[in-house]
Amino acid sequence: VTAEKGGFDHFMLKEIHEQPKAYRDTMLGRVDESGRRVVFQDLKLTEEQIKNIRNVQIVACGTAYHAGLVGRSVIEQLVRIPAENDVASEYRYRDPIVTPETLVIVVSQSGETADTLAALREAKSKGAHVLAITNVVGSSIAREADDVVGTLAGPEIAVASTKAYSSQLIAFYLFGLYLAQVRGTITEDAAAEIIAAMDALPEQVESMLANTEAIKGYAEQISKHQHLFFIGRGQDYAVAQEGSLKLKEISYIHSEAYAAGELKHGTLALIEEGIPVIALATQEDVLEKTVSNIKEVKARGADVMVITYEEHVVNLLKSVDQAFAIPKTLPVLTAALSVVPLQLLAYYASLALGHDVDKPRNLAKSVTVE
Ligand code: AGP
Repeated sequence: VTAEKGGFDHFMLKEIHEQPKAYRDTMLGRVDESGRRVVFQDLKLTEEQIKNIRNVQIVACGTAYHAGLVGRSVIEQLVRIPAENDVASEYRYRDPIVTPETLVIVVSQSGETADTLAALREAKSKGAHVLAITNVVGSSIAREADDVVGTLAGPEIAVASTKAYSSQLIAFYLFGLYLAQVRGTITEDAAAEIIAAMDALPEQVESMLANTEAIKGYAEQISKHQHLFFIGRGQDYAVAQEGSLKLKEISYIHSEAYAAGELKHGTLALIEEGIPVIALATQEDVLEKTVSNIKEVKARGADVMVITYEEHVVNLLKSVDQAFAIPKTLPVLTAALSVVPLQLLAYYASLALGHDVDKPRNLAKSVTVE
């Protein structure tokens, strides 16, 4: 069994460590030799259709939904097409407004999630072009979608999704770049800069994985708490939601992820002496705003841990209790790095509490009922 787990104690930890490879594999063959253009050779979606897309709907469940939150931000930033996110179990019942110019992107690791499959069918029946981002090429979702962008994360066994999520991010970066190239919303220089930064991601993840003591120690600290909060703005908020789900699912610690600026509209009432708040503060355009939200919770006694870039650590330590630095990348790509400490946090918290990390209670790897 340990052999199956590649020498790791759990599949989850093994899969966290497989992320650098998953990033490389998902990028393989999708960037041309110049390193300046993304290529998707076997899409049915024509350049003509891409130019006519009027809106994008991204539909998925759970962690795949969280990848879609980042995907939306990537597409809106790079392509300037309005995009929206839906939880698959809600999508089909809201009578979504779909036209032939709507691109629906369904995201699913397993490709078998019943809610996502039902949403795909709903979108197709309404005339949308449906593209699936999935990790299983022969899956029902892959078969029924008009197009498939495969993530090459390899089999994911742990119930808590890690490498599938981060590979879905890579797929969104690539596909977002491709749409932007076709629609002419990005220069080749800007694309080359993003591609170069993507090439650096695997080593950056490796560097974080080589040094997990601080996160492990912090996980042991939070494992003594019953409630905590994750806050962030923009893509940091999207990643906060994933961090919160990961922690809930395997450590059973209750947490909520909040858009940092939204706390003061109600939830701030829950902040009391000693409650842990994990703040993601990587998005530099809103850094000052996030810092003022951090001060709001600090003033009410919260114990704040911030995840940010090294260059902000000294300054942020004036307002927080602990800081964890992640390697520097472009703002649009940060999620692929900032999620890693949150995965490790959930893993070590679960471990500290003696739970079954790979098979949390009440959950199945693939949810095939609606
Ligand atoms: C992730 O940690 C969860 N186990 C769960 O939210 C999962 O992402 C969701 O059920 C969707 O699964 P899928 O990607 O296989 O469609």
